[in-house]
Amino acid sequence: MEKRRGKFIVFEGLDGCGKTFHCKVLCEYLNSIGIKSIQTCEPTKDEMGKLLRRYLSGEIETSPEGIAGLFIADRLDHITKKGGLLELLDNGVNIICDRYYLSSIAYNAQNHSTEWVYNLNKTAIDLLTPDLVVFLDIPSFKEDRISSRGEKEIYETQEYQQMVKQRYEEALSMHKGAYVKISSNRDKKDVVKDVRNEVLKLF
Ligand code: TMP
Repeated sequence: MEKRRGKFIVFEGLDGCGKTFHCKVLCEYLNSIGIKSIQTCEPTKDEMGKLLRRYLSGEIETSPEGIAGLFIADRLDHITKKGGLLELLDNGVNIICDRYYLSSIAYNAQNHSTEWVYNLNKTAIDLLTPDLVVFLDIPSFKEDRISSRGEKEIYETQEYQQMVKQRYEEALSMHKGAYVKISSNRDKKDVVKDVRNEVLKLF
């Protein structure tokens, strides 16, 4: 019998929108009903992802272009490495990913147009387009939730996040695959229910 290819489900949204929580809850739920799933994230937890975290924390500096390029390198490695996303999907594993290329468009177009970042990401997009992007929508950046998480990262200012919010709209309009916008500014239980309903349509 031919193995069914896994589904690639991506969560996106402003910092503090609840992505990490909802990725975890969804992944646990899918596994509990026999849909084998794993959770992953970008920046990854590999060496390039760790280097990115050092730039994001402000510990070391580079140009916005340097950061954009490193996100692509981390993403391509995530997709194509041994045991990476493509291999897992081919083996029938479903993947829940906390951020993917839409984050690059929303966050890394600092000195450029969103098309510039889209084009940089073209190789990754051609290799792997999400089966579904779940955009968790909040009216504005939740500073309190971030500060309780630890140190602030370079993009975590109200001003920057306002721009990110606008850029996400552009990113979603450029995205050629399926996406759903879910308001995350509600009781978590309702958000969990809506996310499940949307994701279950894929199976
Ligand atoms: P996180 O806090 O959701 O783990 O994401 C880390 C930060 O990385 C967040 O501020 C968004 C940023 N980011 C980019 O700037 N470009 C990207 O391509 C990705 C995946 C994340």
